[in-house]
Amino acid sequence: DTTVTVGPAQLGFTAVAKSLADIVAVPAGYSVTVLYRLGDPIAANVPAFANNGADTNFALRAGDHHDGMSYFGMAATGNAPDATNSTRGLLALNHENITQAYLHPNGASGMGSGGVRPEAEALKEMECHGVSVIEIVRGAVGWSYVPNSGFNRRVTPLTPMSFSGPARGTPQLRTRHSPDATTGRGTINNCANGTMPWQTYLTNEENWAGYFRRDAGDAAIRSAAAAAKENVSLARYGIREGAGGNYKWTSVTPADAASTVYARWNATAAKDQPADGSGDFRHEPFQFGWVVEIDPFDPASTPRKRTALGRMNHEGCQIGRTITGVRPAFYMGDDAQNEYIYKFVSVTPWTAADASAASRLAVGDKYLDAGTLYVARFNADGTGQWMPLVFGQGPLTPSNAAYAFADQADVLVNARLAADALGATRMDRPEWTAVNPTTGEMYCTLTNNSSRTAAGTDAANPRAYSDPKSTGGATSGNANGHVIRLRETGDTSEATSFAWDIYAFGAGSDLDATNINLSGLDGSNDFSSPDGLWFSLPSNVAGQTTPVLWVETDDGAFTDQTNCMLLAAIPGTVGDGGTKTVVNTLGGASSSVTIRIGKAPGTTLRRFLVGPKECEITGIHSTPDGRSIFVNIQHPGENGSPANITSNWPYNQSGTAAAGNRPRSATIVITKDDGGVVGF
Ligand code: FEO
Ligand code: CA
Ligand code: CA
Ligand code: CA
Repeated sequence: DTTVTVGPAQLGFTAVAKSLADIVAVPAGYSVTVLYRLGDPIAANVPAFANNGADTNFALRAGDHHDGMSYFGMAATGNAPDATNSTRGLLALNHENITQAYLHPNGASGMGSGGVRPEAEALKEMECHGVSVIEIVRGAVGWSYVPNSGFNRRVTPLTPMSFSGPARGTPQLRTRHSPDATTGRGTINNCANGTMPWQTYLTNEENWAGYFRRDAGDAAIRSAAAAAKENVSLARYGIREGAGGNYKWTSVTPADAASTVYARWNATAAKDQPADGSGDFRHEPFQFGWVVEIDPFDPASTPRKRTALGRMNHEGCQIGRTITGVRPAFYMGDDAQNEYIYKFVSVTPWTAADASAASRLAVGDKYLDAGTLYVARFNADGTGQWMPLVFGQGPLTPSNAAYAFADQADVLVNARLAADALGATRMDRPEWTAVNPTTGEMYCTLTNNSSRTAAGTDAANPRAYSDPKSTGGATSGNANGHVIRLRETGDTSEATSFAWDIYAFGAGSDLDATNINLSGLDGSNDFSSPDGLWFSLPSNVAGQTTPVLWVETDDGAFTDQTNCMLLAAIPGTVGDGGTKTVVNTLGGASSSVTIRIGKAPGTTLRRFLVGPKECEITGIHSTPDGRSIFVNIQHPGENGSPANITSNWPYNQSGTAAAGNRPRSATIVITKDDGGVVGF
C-alpha cells in the first residue's frame, strides 16, 4: 500500500512527558510490542528462558544489553533480500555488555580481589556479548521473531573473524592463535552500527580495552623486546599495568593453556615467549577496536574486520549519501572524553548495481578495504578540515619523533596517535553519527564530558559548567552534551573541508537560559546526554520528503527528573541560527566563547518515548515504509541485583509483573494504531 500521503513537514504527535515510571511510554495513538528479550531462544530445542540465573547456552539465545540495530527487508518467501519489504526481514543487533549480577543465581562469584571465576559463569558472560541476527515477521497479530529460522545467528567473542584491509597480516596483530595475523576470534562491546546499502551490517567495537588484564612488569618486558611503542599505544588506548579485566575472565582455572578461551584476555607479555607475539596474547588488544562487517543473509559467513577504517573506541559507522560516480563517505565517532570524529572515503566511486549484488562481503571489500581515513578539525570561524591519516604525509612518517610511524598499517592500528600528531579537535565524547538523506549534512552526538574545563572550551565544545540538578553521570564540565553537524564543501562526500554549527544543546529546561539551556528547550523536548542518532526517510511512501532525526539519550545528569528517552526532530540546516556568546566559569576560570548554533528547535523537536527505570534508549531503525520503528531498551534496572531487583521491565509492559521478575534488555517495535508512518 503506497497510498498514504505524508505532509506537511511537521511532527504529528503530542510530546510525551518526562517520567520516572518503570514503563515504556509513547504518544497517544501508538503501541509498543516487546519483540526480542535477553535469553529468548533462537533455535529449536533450546528451553524457554527461566531468568533465574540458571539458564545456559547463550550462543543460541539473545544476548544482553541490546544496542545498535539494523532492519534488512527480505522477500516474502525464500532467502533473497528485498529492501522494500516492510513485513518480513532480518534484524541485526548488538549486545554491547552485560548486567552481570542478573545472569547468575545469586550474582557473580569470584569477583573479589584474588577471586577465581567459575568457568561456566565466565563462558556465559562472554556469550552474552556480540551480535544477534534474527528473522522477524509482521503477521495478523503484529510483529514476532521466528524462533527456529535458519537465518538466526549469534556472533560472540568466540566467533572466527578475518582481518581485511591494510592492517591484515601486519605483525602487530600476530598472536598465538593467529600466527599470520590474518584471523582472530570474536567481537566485543559492540555499540552502534552501520547499515550498508548492499545489505550488510556493520558492528563496532567500543569499550573493548576494559576486558583486558595487564600485569605489572609488562611494559618492561616489551621495552626489553624493542617494542616500547606498544607501551605508548596501550597507554593511549587505556590498557594500563594493574588492570584486572572487567569480569576477571583470566582467573578461570585450571588455566586453559590449550583452548586459550580465557587466557587470551591477559595482554601481559610472557618473558619466555617470542617478542613477535606468536607465543602469547600480548597483541590480543590490537585485534580489537575495529569496524566489523557481517552478512546477515549468510549465517555461515565469516565476519570481516575492516582495518582501513582505523582502530579506536568505535561507536557507529554510518554511510552518507550514495551517488553514482561519487566516492562514498563513512562517518565515525571515537567515544571517549576528548577523542575525535573521523570519516573514511572509499577509493571506489559508487555503483548503484552494488546495492543488489549477490556477493555482499565482496562489495564490502570494494568500498571498505581501500580509501582514505580522515580526522576532523573544527575551526572557531565555523569552517573545518578533514585531515588525512595517510602514511608518509605530514607528520605520519618514520621520522616522527614521538611515534615513528612505520607504514599505513601502523597508522591505522594507532589511529589515535596519528590523529594526535595531526592536531585534530578533541571533542566532548563523540557517539553516533547520522546523515540527512536529503541534504547530506552529517550530525554527531557529543554525549557529555566531565573533564571539559572553562579554560579548555573551544567553539565546537563550548560549555563547561556545574549542573546544579545532576544526580550522576557528568555533573560538571559539559554535563548535558550537544549535537554538532557539518555540511561538506560542495555537498559532496569527497570533500576535505566543511562548514559546521551546533544543532542543539542538551539541558534541563529549568537550567540557566543564558549559558546552559542555549537551545531554549522546554518541558516537551528537554533532554540530556544525546547518544543514539538516526535519520528516517520512508522510501516507499508517496509524498514523503521530510527526513526525521531521531535522538536517543544515555544519561546520568537528568535522572532526577526523567528516565532516558527518544526524541524526534525535523532539523533545519547548518548556519540557520546565527551566533551567540557563552560565558563559562567552572573552576573559577572564566571563558567567553562565540558559538554557531542552530535555530531554536521549538516544536520541531519533541519527546517521543520515555523508557523504564535505569535504562538507556539505544538502537533505532525502521521498516522501509516507516510504519514500524525498532528501538532497544538497554539494561533496565542495571543498578539492581537478584537480592534487590530495581525494575520489572518488560514483564510489566503488557500484563502483570511479579516482584521477582528480573529485568531484561529487549527490542521493542512501535507502530501507529491507524497504520500510518511513525512520527507524523
Ligand atoms: Fe556504547 Fe558510546 O556508547
Ligand atoms: Ca552509545
Ligand atoms: Ca553513551
Ligand atoms: Ca549503556
